[in-house]
Amino acid sequence: MIDALWGWPPPVLDPAGPYSGKVTTLAWSLFGLGAFVTLVVVFALWVAIKGPDKWKAKLGGERAILLGGVAFPGVVLTALLVWGLTLTASLTEPIHGDEMRIRVTGEMWWFRVQYLDPSGAVVMEDANEIHIPVGRPVVLELESADVIHSFWVPHLSGKKDMIPGRRTLLRIEADRPGEFGGVCAEYCGRQHALMGFVAVAHEDDDFREWYAERNERLVSAGLDITRQVESSSGSGTQGSERSTVTRTGAGANTNSGQQSGRTLFMQSGCAACHRVAGTEANGLAGPDLTHVGSRRTLGAGILPNNRGTLIGWIGDSQSLKPGNRMPSYDMLNADELEAIAIWLEQQK
Ligand code: CUA
Repeated sequence: MIDALWGWPPPVLDPAGPYSGKVTTLAWSLFGLGAFVTLVVVFALWVAIKGPDKWKAKLGGERAILLGGVAFPGVVLTALLVWGLTLTASLTEPIHGDEMRIRVTGEMWWFRVQYLDPSGAVVMEDANEIHIPVGRPVVLELESADVIHSFWVPHLSGKKDMIPGRRTLLRIEADRPGEFGGVCAEYCGRQHALMGFVAVAHEDDDFREWYAERNERLVSAGLDITRQVESSSGSGTQGSERSTVTRTGAGANTNSGQQSGRTLFMQSGCAACHRVAGTEANGLAGPDLTHVGSRRTLGAGILPNNRGTLIGWIGDSQSLKPGNRMPSYDMLNADELEAIAIWLEQQK
């Protein structure tokens, strides 16, 4: 589903921001240098086999060996090492000023995405989708919940490992709006190949609007919006009402179909692993579904998100992505699956 690595030009050579631009420049330079070395070697080979005797003698001389075999590789490899280290350092610079912070955690086999406020507290959680403003550097804090994964959006930056017990940093930035595919770039088990995500870059105003809209919904549900803190500081929020208040979206959901979808979701065990802000579903093991209806993909980038794929994923996720932690809910009948899917579609 996500075209992170294919297409023409290849995303690695089609930078959509300054950080990936640096990687692209390095990639082209390596390619150019490699091509030059290949030509020189082929020429030397021709001289050694069929070249004039005078040239052959020079090729075997001490000077040619010192220059071509020691000095040239020594200088070039040292220069590349310095270049590579400097580039890596610029991609992993910590926060300087008002950069946006997002924590991304690799889990087998999906990405947990948490938007952080300047103090580092979680403001909003999502999965397999990262929204950023155009023209502003974003510092990602990369972590892993289980094994080593690697975070890579070739259009926006280099790649960086997500290591258990460690926090690594990666800067990304987009200089044009768009949707850019990303993947896990380190083998992490059976479904490594199906661990993808989308990075969505918005114009500044659009981004503000998107962010405000999401926050508004969380705030209007009377919720604190952090995971760790029970009540948000200052204004007395209804922390204790949290489990009884069931406000979702526009408040026009008295329809019985929606109610049964919601009830089925709670009663079938979904709520044990998934969180939906504003409801009693507060599971933390799986992806947060508060905004699942607005996601572009399902199953970590492997399917487009629509009612049909939602039904398919809930009912038979083990066929779509064998070995993933979500069991197939094949005990539910078609109507029940559809009711849950309809309710989830409304969670935007
Ligand atoms: Cu996660 Cu490969």
